[in-house]
Amino acid sequence: MKRSLTVVAASLLAVGSLAAAAFAGPTFDADGKIVVPEGRDRWPMVGATYALSYEGDGGVTINTVRMDPENYDAYVKTGKFPVGTMLDLEVRRPVEEVAPAKGGKTQGAAIGRSLHVKDEKGGPGTWTFYGYGAASKTGNPIPRSQACYSCHDEHAGKTDTVFMQFYPSLNEARELAAKATP
Ligand code: HEC
Repeated sequence: MKRSLTVVAASLLAVGSLAAAAFAGPTFDADGKIVVPEGRDRWPMVGATYALSYEGDGGVTINTVRMDPENYDAYVKTGKFPVGTMLDLEVRRPVEEVAPAKGGKTQGAAIGRSLHVKDEKGGPGTWTFYGYGAASKTGNPIPRSQACYSCHDEHAGKTDTVFMQFYPSLNEARELAAKATP
């Protein structure tokens, strides 16, 4: 009897860890902070920019944008961002001459991380920005009065406030999928 209970407990644990590994959409704590998704570093990269300057004197950075895999798959099929979509922006300082490089610039320390989430917290179809640090488990919602929202609305309003003009591989994947569908 005791033995079979141990077996049951062990298989429940296995189910629990499998569930934890699967993407479950954005989750929030009681204060409305977003739980920083664990597998973020394994999400498909949809954008890479160098020295893109748009916010005053932020200095030269290398930015990478990733998208959660489940909604990436949906987007390339439908061309629409499902509710729950999460995009992650990582901003790094460029570094030079890391051996054996004789020229060029590569990624150095991260100076900013944020998520853009279609969580509908501001009404149907709306997105919220969340900022988080390297070791943070949760991210703080950025107030809607901040310039994040107005710039994204003004220059990417036609594409769901996501800067699709800088994500060619995502556009190409969506177009390929549309052609493949009879
Ligand atoms: C003046 C315009 C502007 C402002 C202000 C701005 N952004 Fe962006 N944002 C961009 C551009 C351009 C990109 C394209 C990708 C890049 O930066 O490499 C982008 C991309 C992003 C992305 C990747 C997903 C997407 O929607 O394309 C996130 C996340 C993001 N910004 C967060 C923020 C946050 C958080 C703030 C406010 C603290 C902010 N942005 C303020 C212009 C802006």
